[in-house]
Amino acid sequence: MASLRHLRLSTTGAALALFLAAAPVSAEAPSGEQIFDHCTQCHGSAGEGNQLVAAPPIAGMAEWYVAKQLRKFRDGIRGKDARDHEGLRMRPMVRFLTDDTWIDNVSSYTASLPKPAPVATLSGGDAAKGAGHYATCAACHGLAGEGNQATNGPALAGQSDWYLYQSIEKFKTGVRGSDPKDTDGAVMRGMVMILTDDQAMKDVVAHITSFPTN
Ligand code: HEC
Ligand code: HEC
Repeated sequence: MASLRHLRLSTTGAALALFLAAAPVSAEAPSGEQIFDHCTQCHGSAGEGNQLVAAPPIAGMAEWYVAKQLRKFRDGIRGKDARDHEGLRMRPMVRFLTDDTWIDNVSSYTASLPKPAPVATLSGGDAAKGAGHYATCAACHGLAGEGNQATNGPALAGQSDWYLYQSIEKFKTGVRGSDPKDTDGAVMRGMVMILTDDQAMKDVVAHITSFPTN
């Protein structure tokens, strides 16, 4: 199964490469919707995410944040660490978005999609205890996880619990946020260090998933 899945994902990458390479350089950039067609295999037809391939929900994510992350993946600032299996899967998908207009188009389309309401997959977190930890997070991610562009903090409300947990772990272990050019990631890395153990991580995730999605 694992190798089949790997094959399918590689095929997606190859198809995207062909699609993008086939477009003449001078041609008008494809619409965000056209580019998004190549994201749905992993992120779902409505951008709702798919835990089986570790692709988070992206529908309704702020345009500035999507664009910034796509540039980070493209430029090797995110998703390059050998331990970052999910990032390594995502990275080849955007390497062909060399023209910033394409990134802008797909980011704007992604942001226009309605945010999904993910189902809970984690248990054992105590949302009330997590609220105590979250007091530190609110400055950058908003009191209700709505995000705060002024501090580069993405929205966390509406994100899947498994992805939140995994991302916190990646920042803690330096799998994400340790590239010297990743200044936002470095800020975030310092912050997750207050979540000293697995229980604290689960508690804060339980609190975040109690926020309304929109
Ligand atoms: C082959 C599967 C695959 C395809 C195709 C794919 N992605 Fe991803 N994407 C992933 C995975 C896996 C992650 C999670 C990376 C991680 O855990 O750090 C991800 C992460 C992301 C993120 C970061 C989300 C966050 O909260 O930081 C964005 C934004 C994103 N993808 C957008 C896109 C867009 C836009 C496309 C189409 C151009 C696309 N992806 C195509 C697998 C894919
Ligand atoms: C000083 C500002 C700041 C504080 C405080 C902060 N963060 Fe962040 N956080 C960020 C920034 C900036 C990013 C985006 C990093 C990037 O661009 O990759 C981020 C990213 C994240 C992500 C990844 C989201 C995604 O979609 O991939 C999670 C999860 C997260 N933070 C959780 C937390 C939690 C939990 C706390 C509190 C313990 C916290 N953050 C405190 C600034 C902050």
